[in-house]
Amino acid sequence: MFRLDGRTALVTGASQGIGETIAARLAAQGARVVLAARSEEKLVALAARIREAGGEALTLRLDLAQGGEIADRLKELPAEWAEIDILVNNAGITADGLLARMSLEQWQSVIDVNLTGTFVVTREVSRGMLRRRRGRIVTISSVVGLMGNAGQANYAAAKAGLIGFTKSVARELASRGITANVVAPGFVETAMTDTLPEATRAAMLEDIALRRFGAAEEIAAAVVYLASEEAGYVTGQVLNVSGGLYI
Ligand SMILES: NC(=O)c1ccc[n+]([C@@H]2O[C@H](COP(=O)([O-])OP(=O)(O)OC[C@H]3O[C@@H](n4cnc5c(N)ncnc54)[C@H](OP(=O)(O)O)[C@@H]3O)[C@@H](O)[C@H]2O)c1
Repeated sequence: MFRLDGRTALVTGASQGIGETIAARLAAQGARVVLAARSEEKLVALAARIREAGGEALTLRLDLAQGGEIADRLKELPAEWAEIDILVNNAGITADGLLARMSLEQWQSVIDVNLTGTFVVTREVSRGMLRRRRGRIVTISSVVGLMGNAGQANYAAAKAGLIGFTKSVARELASRGITANVVAPGFVETAMTDTLPEATRAAMLEDIALRRFGAAEEIAAAVVYLASEEAGYVTGQVLNVSGGLYI
């Protein structure tokens, strides 16, 4: 089940963390994967690992903060890689701060990358999906987009925005056999969470019903499912993978 042979996937934010794991997992399931992010060296290293494991991967330098340039970057893909069947909108940033002290720059940078960047990539990639009358769009939001989080008004707004965006896209594209869904992770062990002080980590665990942080592989498994043929009757949904942080 959940084989992705013959499919081409594009993963944004594939250079590290959850995106890197998603890309490797999609490749292991048989998809050829376009690895997109700004850090070319990390992408090249991941592509080499995927190829060593018998998979196929191509790197694409893409900066989601540069919305006006995204279409041109995507047009640089060689023809045999340009027909994207599976889009995983994973790239995301944080710029935390309490509301009273949050600068416009902090607000705007998070909205630009997490929400506007995702909109532009999805608009561009969905055109080919519409022509071919098939596609899977999986967007990584966060439980913070569902429940809010003090100090993350910008991030929560962007992540909640991705849910409304995905539900609209799901309705627009359904008649062409394209599904669009969201995965909403809780706390996942990555560079984003590594730097937290031990006391903060302990307090966070108290709120997680399963009493442990998630692993990137557990997010990747949800993405593989939603990207698969088997999930063809699931669209406009939010799959919460948070260990019961949000129920
Ligand atoms: N870790 C968690 O606990 C957690 C929980 C809920 C949701 N999430 C979400 O899961 C996703 C991945 O998180 P993570 O923990 O793996 O984060 P991470 O380790 O910080 O990785 C973020 C990825 O996004 C890419 N990125 C950042 N800015 C970009 C830009 N301007 N253009 C293109 N790519 C950009 C980075 O690549 P470059 O720097 O190379 O561009 C990197 O590959 C994010 O959307 C995050 O909000 C994470």
